[in-house]
Amino acid sequence: MNDVVETKVKITDRKLLSRLFMYAKGQEGKFVLAIFLMLIAVGIDLLLPILIGRAAGLLDSDVIDFTRIIYVLIAYAICLVISNVTLYFQSMILQKTGQTIIYKVREDVFSHIEKFSANQFNNVPVGKLVTRVTNDTNTLNELYTSVIINLLKNIFSVAGALGAMFLLHKTLTLYILLLGPVLLVISYIFRKISRRAYREVRNNLSDVNAFLSENLSGMKVTQIFNQEKKKMHEFEDRNAKLKKSSLKEIFVFAVFRPSIYVIYISALVMILWFSGEAYLGNFNIIKEVITIQLLITFIQLIDRLFNPIQQLAEQFNILQSAFASAEKIFSVLDTEPEIVDCEDSIELEKIEGNIEFKNVWFKYKEDEWVLKDVSFKINAKDVVAFVGATGSGKTTILSLIVRNYDIQKGQILIDGIDIKKIKISSLRKNIGQMLQDVFLFSGTIMSNIQMKEESITEADVIEACKYVNADSFIEELPNKYHEEVRERGGNFSSGQRQLLSFARTLVHKPQVMILDEATANIDTETEVLIQDSLEKMMNIGTMIIVAHRLSTIQHADKIIVLSKGEIVEEGTHQELLKKRGQYYKLYQLQYQKKEHKSLKEVIN
Ligand SMILES: Nc1ncnc2c1ncn2[C@@H]1O[C@H](COP(=O)(O)OP(=O)(O)OP(=O)(O)O)[C@@H](O)[C@H]1O
Ligand SMILES: [Mg+2]
Repeated sequence: MNDVVETKVKITDRKLLSRLFMYAKGQEGKFVLAIFLMLIAVGIDLLLPILIGRAAGLLDSDVIDFTRIIYVLIAYAICLVISNVTLYFQSMILQKTGQTIIYKVREDVFSHIEKFSANQFNNVPVGKLVTRVTNDTNTLNELYTSVIINLLKNIFSVAGALGAMFLLHKTLTLYILLLGPVLLVISYIFRKISRRAYREVRNNLSDVNAFLSENLSGMKVTQIFNQEKKKMHEFEDRNAKLKKSSLKEIFVFAVFRPSIYVIYISALVMILWFSGEAYLGNFNIIKEVITIQLLITFIQLIDRLFNPIQQLAEQFNILQSAFASAEKIFSVLDTEPEIVDCEDSIELEKIEGNIEFKNVWFKYKEDEWVLKDVSFKINAKDVVAFVGATGSGKTTILSLIVRNYDIQKGQILIDGIDIKKIKISSLRKNIGQMLQDVFLFSGTIMSNIQMKEESITEADVIEACKYVNADSFIEELPNKYHEEVRERGGNFSSGQRQLLSFARTLVHKPQVMILDEATANIDTETEVLIQDSLEKMMNIGTMIIVAHRLSTIQHADKIIVLSKGEIVEEGTHQELLKKRGQYYKLYQLQYQKKEHKSLKEVIN
């Protein structure tokens, strides 16, 4: 699995259509009704030229019969009203149906994305997934609400106009049809060029979007390094490309529409010329006189013929982009989540908290083992810490315990059960995770700690915050527990975020807690608070800590030292110091940096 959104598993058009129909299931009646209404509108639209022609015919006679003219005009008005009312209902029905379908598609895509594993998220830019759920579903919406019905409508209009023209005057119609090949060639060329232009615009637009989304998030760094001008130039490049391709697209349309118009005018000129010649008796083929009524009806029908042809060519693009979007959406839906419950997975109500790694081998990428034959045992209620240089695999071990990734070799057991056999939801419910970067959702402090768990009351939240020492800073906020949390919790310091994440984990009462200590610098005052609350939490259940400040873990039951994915030392703080190995070196480095006391004083 490489890239969820870019998978080029070609879905055939027929399969695509059948899946699109699947989504429309249950709505067939509404589509049939809309098509029926559309047919009425098309029919009436063809009746209008005939009525106008009739009125002209009446005006043309020697004695003008005003009453009949008024009747014709009233009929015209009624037809107009009916046609517009049917169009209104048709469009309402389709829009509603379209929205119902798209609502379902969006929901399916989002709930499917929720099942993706950590690895799958690493491989997909979030911006692309957002596009799938928003833009692509919107494009798809057009397919249901306008493209299909308009394609049908235009096809019927062309057929209806041609049919009516044939009935009224066969020879004249055949002459007009001589323009057909020119029309086809122009439409064909237009479709080819416009498709290319359209794609270019879409690509350049998504380039601009991707650039924006990355650079807006990284604006702080840009400003720190005074890179605004350079970034602006990069943006200008993309912006200019987008402008160029958009102009190209506009140009293609600007040439196409007048070309069709020229042919339309040619058709009109042809008719006027032919009827003039026929009137003068100079024309061999059309012998009979063409009446004013016929002429005016014809002129209007030609309009009904050319308009839809122009629209058909233009709508083909929308149809294609809707298909492209559908394909992208389905490729997300077809991506199997990597980490799923096995058949007959075990639901665990409560776990004891014994954790064992048995000869675990793990790699993220081919040929790069990140964990090499790692084995250890953690007893329930124990506090175990992992230390080691950056990149040694500490965070990786924690994410394996909650099965964010599956291991390649070995076994991970919780209370003696292989975690692959435990239902993922019950595994994660029993293990509280406090990650290296604390993520807060926009909302309030309360909502971020409750996390939509109804059984957790406000009193529980306040109690947990007190327990982890978060209450002191919360009480000072203007809205206290209902203080707004902005996107990603940007309005809190990293230490405060850490305390909130402790409260969030604690309130959900897990049996095992894993903590990946933040590497970010935390002020001394908050550090004391964190230290104190950690010590309290260590008494609650099994606790696994990745510690960067070794002072945090002096009282741990066991400290495991990792180096390049292997366990190199194991023991308590005192045992390891006495060993004078890796841990001793790490401790020496940190200790000397922080306080300038002699080490000998510390090791008794
Ligand atoms: N999602 C990933 N894809 C590929 N490689 C990864 C991924 N996450 C981590 N690694 C690699 O795995 C190794 C171990 O990373 P890990 O995050 O476990 O280190 P760590 O011990 O937690 O480091 P730190 O102290 O900096 O947090 C590193 O070499 C890292 O480059
Ligand atoms: Mg880490």
